[in-house]
Amino acid sequence: MDKFAIQGGVPLEGEIAVSGAKNSALPALAACLLTSEAVTLDRIPPVRDIATMERLLEHAGARVVVDGERVTVQAAVIEHPEAPYDLVKTMRASSLVLGPLAARCGRARVSVPGGCAIGARPINLHVSALESLGATIHQEHGYIEARAPQGLKGGEVRFDRITVTGTEDLLMAAVLASGETVIHNAAREPEVVDLAALLIKMGARIEGAGTSVIRVTGVERLRGAEHRIIPDRIETGTFLAAGAITRGDLTVTGCEPEHLGAFLAKLREAGVEIAKPSATAIRVRVPGKLQSADVTTEEHPGFATDLQAQFMALMTQAEGISILTETIFENRFMHALELARMGANIRLDGRRALVAGATTLSGAEVIASDLRASASLVIAGLAAHGETLIDRVYHIDRGYEKIETKLAGVGARIRRIS
Ligand code: EPU
Repeated sequence: MDKFAIQGGVPLEGEIAVSGAKNSALPALAACLLTSEAVTLDRIPPVRDIATMERLLEHAGARVVVDGERVTVQAAVIEHPEAPYDLVKTMRASSLVLGPLAARCGRARVSVPGGCAIGARPINLHVSALESLGATIHQEHGYIEARAPQGLKGGEVRFDRITVTGTEDLLMAAVLASGETVIHNAAREPEVVDLAALLIKMGARIEGAGTSVIRVTGVERLRGAEHRIIPDRIETGTFLAAGAITRGDLTVTGCEPEHLGAFLAKLREAGVEIAKPSATAIRVRVPGKLQSADVTTEEHPGFATDLQAQFMALMTQAEGISILTETIFENRFMHALELARMGANIRLDGRRALVAGATTLSGAEVIASDLRASASLVIAGLAAHGETLIDRVYHIDRGYEKIETKLAGVGARIRRIS
């Protein structure tokens, strides 16, 4: 298993480029199952979760051609409308193929995802949404089987709570359902908007993506299209936190500042100076001391749960007590215990973490427990005295493209030990 070795204390300086959004690329790849024609997606980040999704598409019978960041998928015929356990167990987002397969083939068989480090993560909302479109669903032998032999029928769906991939799954089912579907309490994440943009290019009729009510008028078939995935807002936020914690002068390029409103506001509150040298770049510097800031994670446009761990690492270097409240996942503080091993003063109280700073971090051996927790350990390692050794970096490889190479390019002393 690979590790990262980081020598902390070097201010990050220069420009660092972001990749395409993993969480946008995943549903976009799943959407390729909706048409027999070729779909070409650009700015697909070559990270492990994407490779897993590509294997899923191939398992279903699609041809996948990868040319750098351009990926062309053609699902001329779907041979196996299913997502087997060995792929689903490594990536929960595999459930994103449930909607498209049910819509295209009238049946789908998807392994039920198990637990995950950050919480229970059920897919009951995906299932009941599909039932509202007329699918019959059974669970047996660890698989969910959806059947709609006469095709799906549009309907009214009101999600009990906001779900990002649940909204995406339903959207992909509704575009080929007969009649109109109205999705209430839909997720408003930029990744949902990006998926809708792709589906519209493929011929879908969708209104309201980016708001909490999405209306879809089903069409008989979709066609091929070309689409460029949005920049990764979580990778952007991760780099901004890294620049700030090292008190560097870092410009993140190729990003979409509008997708990071709540996060940028909290960085400012913490004393980070933020400039936008261009429409697609954000520059961070820290002119004085960092100050504590409280954060409550929320659905978009609130503060993203996927940036909570990275912000916690930053707050270990801020004066005062920061209260971080996690409302989306019940167990997303695994990084706190590892940060404490590096000298952070953090107390956990249910869904709240109290971070008292500023503390001096010292390099230690730590273990990455999930994707964003690993990112927070990298950020902490960049600010710590001495060497930090991060074990199980396969978690970070799931969602960050060559993070060590990118960070080394702006001065970080980080290397991969294979
Ligand atoms: N939930 C249910 N039932 C469902 C679906 C969700 O109870 O059927 C609950 C979840 O347990 C959670 C809440 O609803 O408590 C919200 O979960 P959501 O469904 O929105 O999460 P997701 O779609 O599984 C996506 C991202 C996550 C990100 C969350 C929240 C992808 C592939 N994943 O997950 O990204 O944290 O939205 O924004 O888009 C990551 O990239 O590290 C990551 C975990």
